[in-house]
Amino acid sequence: MKVLIIFGTKTGITLKIANYIANILESNNIMTILHKLDKESIKNVPDLAIFDGIIIGSGIYANKWKKEIRYFVKNNNIKLKNLKLGLFISCGAGCDKLIYDFAEENYIKSLIKEYNLVPDIYGIFGSYFDLTKNSQFGYLYKKLLIHEMNKTIQEFNVPLKLEKNRTYDFINWNEIEKFANSFVELIKA
Ligand SMILES: Cc1cc2nc3c(=O)[nH]c(=O)nc-3n(C[C@H](O)[C@H](O)[C@H](O)COP(=O)(O)O)c2cc1C
Repeated sequence: MKVLIIFGTKTGITLKIANYIANILESNNIMTILHKLDKESIKNVPDLAIFDGIIIGSGIYANKWKKEIRYFVKNNNIKLKNLKLGLFISCGAGCDKLIYDFAEENYIKSLIKEYNLVPDIYGIFGSYFDLTKNSQFGYLYKKLLIHEMNKTIQEFNVPLKLEKNRTYDFINWNEIEKFANSFVELIKA
């Protein structure tokens, strides 16, 4: 059994999640190949015909999956129909259940509709925000993130206000583990 996990990431959170899922698949004797998609690596995506399943993941930016991922999904639409398919996103909206329905409608169902996908499962996962001075993220990223997140938090009445100089860990590893285990079951069925 062989699975491809293909993902788009800017700040590395989706990579962490993809690695975590890959470890669970591997520990269930499913050979797993990770492929980070960017401008360069889009030219050498492995042949999809050799896989039993594929998991596609992305961080969300301005309400969209990363561009390379959308391009990949569009161009491999037919081939994806022959594979067990899992989708997942890491996003601000995945950080609180009050925003879950919005994320499901606007980030998952809209992608499914736009590209006529038939996923077997999908997952909406949170993120990790490092807003401290020593953060790997630059000044602009932190400013934009605080602005965008606080706007969403207000809109959905989430009882939280993001502050500077703190870290926030909203990555729901239990949900990610459940997603990975469900995919294992699908592949082995
Ligand atoms: C500039 C910027 C825009 C973002 N836009 C959204 C958004 O529209 N919706 C959302 O839910 N999360 C948004 N986020 C949060 C990211 O989706 C989240 O940090 C995710 O974990 C990033 O994944 P990555 O590190 O794999 O790129 C945004 C973050 C930044 C920095």
